[in-house]
Amino acid sequence: MKIAISSDHGGNNLRKEIMHLLDELNISYEDFGPQTDDSVDYPDYARPVAERVAAGEFDRGILICGTGIGISIAANKFKGIRCALVHDTFSAKATRCHNDSNVLAMGERVIGPGLAREIVETWLITDFEGGRHTRRIEKITELEG
Ligand code: RB5
Repeated sequence: MKIAISSDHGGNNLRKEIMHLLDELNISYEDFGPQTDDSVDYPDYARPVAERVAAGEFDRGILICGTGIGISIAANKFKGIRCALVHDTFSAKATRCHNDSNVLAMGERVIGPGLAREIVETWLITDFEGGRHTRRIEKITELEG
């Protein structure tokens, strides 16, 4: 599995924590920044991850901002992206099983690093259930026009 990851300035610390986790898990990833703590605009950092996941260059994406809200809204503007904003492990599992989410968003100002690590691990290992959920994903795709 290959992961694309980015954040805005509000998510820099948690992004680094999650990159350490991916290293520990031996999961390959590419970091799309930012590389400084300067204030940046989260749509600019959602874009490279969302575009590459949508293009199939990466299997999944992880996005982090202060709340996770802005960066998840931006990612969901891209066709083929199902970005789930998650701050608990139940939802991390459910969004993989039911929504086949291909991008995970979290807010560094919302949860601590321990919970964020558990969310990422859960989200990475959980498979899509298919079945009736496939029909619903297809309907989401139809909404994209
Ligand atoms: C940046 O201050 C903050 O607005 C951003 O990280 C995010 O929380 C937006 O949704």
